[in-house]
Amino acid sequence: MPSTTTTTRVPGFYRLTPDERLDIVTKNCNLSEDETKYFSGEYALPMDLADSMIENVIGQIGIPIGVAANFKVNGKDTFIPMATEEPSVVAAASNAAKAAYDLGGFYTSMSGTIMRGQIQVLNVADPFAARAKIFEHKSEILQRCNEKDPTLVSLGGGAIDLEVNIIQTTNSLMLIVHLIVDTKDAMGANAVNTMAESVAPFIETITNGRVVLRIISNLADRRLVRARAVFSAEALGGKEIVENIVNAFEFADFDPYRAATHNKGIMNGITAVVLATGNDTRAVEAGAHAYASISGRYRSLTKWEINNDGNLSGSIELPMAVGIVGGATKTHPVAKASLKIMEINSAEELAGCIAAAGLAQNVAALRALSAEGVQRGHMSLHARNLAVMAGAHRSEIDRIVAQAIEEKDLRYDRILEITKTIQRGD
Ligand code: MEV
Repeated sequence: MPSTTTTTRVPGFYRLTPDERLDIVTKNCNLSEDETKYFSGEYALPMDLADSMIENVIGQIGIPIGVAANFKVNGKDTFIPMATEEPSVVAAASNAAKAAYDLGGFYTSMSGTIMRGQIQVLNVADPFAARAKIFEHKSEILQRCNEKDPTLVSLGGGAIDLEVNIIQTTNSLMLIVHLIVDTKDAMGANAVNTMAESVAPFIETITNGRVVLRIISNLADRRLVRARAVFSAEALGGKEIVENIVNAFEFADFDPYRAATHNKGIMNGITAVVLATGNDTRAVEAGAHAYASISGRYRSLTKWEINNDGNLSGSIELPMAVGIVGGATKTHPVAKASLKIMEINSAEELAGCIAAAGLAQNVAALRALSAEGVQRGHMSLHARNLAVMAGAHRSEIDRIVAQAIEEKDLRYDRILEITKTIQRGD
């Protein structure tokens, strides 16, 4: 049951210790003792579970999970778990979300949960007639597909339609059959690939051709998520910064060199949530970048405008093939607990939160780039890491970092000296 009491506005959240933060999230989101232990690292991923996930397992790599604060998504306060190795990402998302919170937060919608399976048919003598024949057999093809996944059908999903394209390649004409499958709360790769493989011999019989590839398409253009939010101009730093952000967006929208970096920043947020929930990061990334170039030019995944109140109005639209059933989403204990933190009940809700994180991440990057640049934040995190390496105690780190930044000297040997001086009490 979604909790109505969760508040993501926790002043000074970033200043707490990891245990204190986990305690707040545990209480807000009713995590069990076991779930808390998985987050805290007290329970590692069991080796036999790891061994059942991939091959040749020898261990695991720990990636930190942070929770972004200040998110309100479709009227509900939602902590957003983010797994990433990159400093500044979680802080940036939280700061950006704060600038949208009092203006209503994020609103999201989804075009559906429909994926495509592609079946490549070669050596068809009469592809146009074969295309017509496939449509004559549409209901039988769909029925054969759906027999492979009665569970999905019982949940209201399954194969619902067909498309057939004829493509002229350098060497031949190919017939490409698209199975259109509603995968509901599953990401859908297993369901779609099974259907495509099972129906392939029937397609060969109908077309007198030779089927080779049978695989899902990651350009999930019938599974688009959209999110929008208004960010306070005052919180972002004023009118000039807002104008700079809009210009930064236009730069990306018209220049693929910039768009690649701009969209990479968006994916910093998106991939972190996709990973935290055990979903397929590469599928989402492939879909995002393919969709960014769907017009024939590689463009920004977001749009930024100034609204009538002078505030910054942002929106994002991209394919979002994520699920909450199947795969690691249901087997990995941290992925399951991440979904619980977000109080997610459907793939659509999850997609909305992910898109919100991407939008927030983008405005945070554009704000920093339009004002002081990204290095200041990065340098202080870098200095923190160096202070830890130099043996600084938690309570000493802020002083060491402040001094190193004031001196504009972030070399390790200087940070070591500062650390020793502070520890000697000089
Ligand atoms: C760095 O990980 C992401 C940025 O480069 C994104 C951007 O340039 O918009 C800061």
